[in-house]
Amino acid sequence: MKVAIMGYGTIGSGVAKVLEINKEVLTERVGEALELKYILDLRDFPGDPYEKCLVKYYMDIVKDKEVKIVVETMGGVEPAFTFVKAMLEAGKSVTTSNKALVADKGSELMEIARKNKVNFVFEAAVGGGIPIIRTITACLTGDVIEEISAICNGTTNYMLTNMEENGSDYAEILAEAQSLGYAEKDPTADVEGHDSCRKIAILTSLISGKAVDFNDIPTEGISKISATDFKYAKAMGRSIKLLARCEKLGDTYSCRVAPFLLKPNHTLYHVAGVMNAVYIRGNMLGDSMYYGAGAGSLPTASAVVGDMVFLARNIDKPVKIGWDSEKLELADPAMQKYKYFVRTSASQSEIENEFGKVDYSTLDLDDEVGFVTAELTECEFKQRSSALGGIISVIRLA
Ligand code: HSE
Repeated sequence: MKVAIMGYGTIGSGVAKVLEINKEVLTERVGEALELKYILDLRDFPGDPYEKCLVKYYMDIVKDKEVKIVVETMGGVEPAFTFVKAMLEAGKSVTTSNKALVADKGSELMEIARKNKVNFVFEAAVGGGIPIIRTITACLTGDVIEEISAICNGTTNYMLTNMEENGSDYAEILAEAQSLGYAEKDPTADVEGHDSCRKIAILTSLISGKAVDFNDIPTEGISKISATDFKYAKAMGRSIKLLARCEKLGDTYSCRVAPFLLKPNHTLYHVAGVMNAVYIRGNMLGDSMYYGAGAGSLPTASAVVGDMVFLARNIDKPVKIGWDSEKLELADPAMQKYKYFVRTSASQSEIENEFGKVDYSTLDLDDEVGFVTAELTECEFKQRSSALGGIISVIRLA
């Protein structure tokens, strides 16, 4: 069976390697060999073992009827969307690792796949090598999922872990994460939480069966987290992690991406480095957690190749994985309730005027004080903190 890869970067080249290294077992599992016929990339790769497969024009793949499975590992919405759409319309099944594409155009691409009686799957788009999509769409379909809390961005978890353990500088550790192939081309997507936002939008769409617009999810990243925040966290016996969360609220879900202060008994507290973890609470299952490499060439490629085997086994058999195009109206994020850790230059009497009794956390810094509020809605917190002023930073507690 002839296959093609679009995008010969970190993941695409990993896919080529997995196909080569695991050739024998893959042939056994599929019942025939998965033969790499094309690699689409605008760049030249002189001396590369797959040099003869390289093409620069996506229509070369579209027009080749022999190609049944196409992998999209280019990243970004365009031109990935145009290329994937053309592949599906040409009767080819597609797997993508591209969360930006799935979160933005997933509903449309699923519809196009259905109309053309092919499959569109995206196991690698969330959690890298963690098989979370198929777990949700197959194994957990007997449950109503009440909560998902995830560390689903390897770059930021790697950075936060290093900042916590080694007191590393933010810029230096970001450069290291990029050189290890964890970070997106534009690190903003990682550090500002956009990548985690798209991933929780995908997971919430899967568990609700409706399309979640990632623009509706309030999202904060880690770019404002400082060494001093980690000193306070340590004094409180907590760790700081970037969480992507969704919680069932009546007929809908309430979502947020933000850094949270976690206690050591929190399920996600010990998830360190580039590892990802997805905690899921089902109404029958109770607690479960899925842990593994969330980024990097071979772990992500492993999930892509798993999808290729699935696609090969289901050629001409469309399988419904995904959600309907109807939009899910998320619950109002202003009504979410948290305790907040606040650093401020305001005095204790000013703090107590606005927030009443609070728990102080001091580091003996001259010009600021840290405190934890009682549980408040986002809306109440916003009003009281703007009345207080002098806010240096705010981190929610989980
Ligand atoms: N940049 C992403 C991460 C890659 O760090 O998790 C995997 O989606």
